[in-house]
Amino acid sequence: MLSSSETSSCPHGHSPERLYGRRKGRPLNKRKSALVLDLLPRVCIDLSSPLSLPLAPLWMEIGFGGGEHLASQAELHPTFTMIGCEPFMNGVAGMLEQIDDKKLSNVRIFPNDARQLLDAMPDNCLSRCFVLYPDPWPKKRHVRRRFVGPENLARLARVLKSGAELRLATDVAPLAEWMENQVSGHPAFKLEYAGCDAPVDWVQTRYEKKGIKAGRTPVYLCYSRV
Ligand SMILES: C[S@@+](CC[C@H](N)C(=O)[O-])C[C@H]1O[C@@H](n2cnc3c(N)ncnc32)[C@H](O)[C@@H]1O
Repeated sequence: MLSSSETSSCPHGHSPERLYGRRKGRPLNKRKSALVLDLLPRVCIDLSSPLSLPLAPLWMEIGFGGGEHLASQAELHPTFTMIGCEPFMNGVAGMLEQIDDKKLSNVRIFPNDARQLLDAMPDNCLSRCFVLYPDPWPKKRHVRRRFVGPENLARLARVLKSGAELRLATDVAPLAEWMENQVSGHPAFKLEYAGCDAPVDWVQTRYEKKGIKAGRTPVYLCYSRV
């Protein structure tokens, strides 16, 4: 059984910026361990060699958690390539199970800090990016850790094509307000929708399901890259 931090089957370097949050949880079961060894190297984006991206239109999900949303989008849009970034190995292993079960051939995984991959990507290459239920970091002294801040918006503005969508969601009201202020203050993004009704093609994430069950209200923010 692999410890959930063992990802040597897919070298991906180290992030120069500090990553907050967990990389590993409980040890992986036999099937997940085997998928990390056998399947991950085949779908992994490896930054130790020059980055080559598929020619199909690219969508990206940052922090896919258990991968339910990424897997469903991949199933719904087989002609698009879905890139998922997630440094938490238990989440990556869960996503590998879904790739295997659903026989998905249009998913690539970056099992690390999305900032590293964003920095390696060419300009104007992404058609859509999801940042769903990012860590809220509610304490004032941790606010700089929030993903949707000025540095990452600059990264996203560079890689998103003109007209591409940046889709955000949260059920933490102060984070929703904060993200709206951050993105609205950035000249590269135009607000297309902000509200509590899910976009028509919405696919629930695991975190969202739990939040709704617990009585929390989702907020959806959709922006276009100008
Ligand atoms: C609150 S969870 C939400 C997971 C999932 N989006 C959902 O809605 O079920 C936030 C996720 O973002 C991931 N994350 C945090 N910082 C990240 C980064 N710099 N790059 C990629 N993923 C990151 C965490 O590991 C965690 O799985």
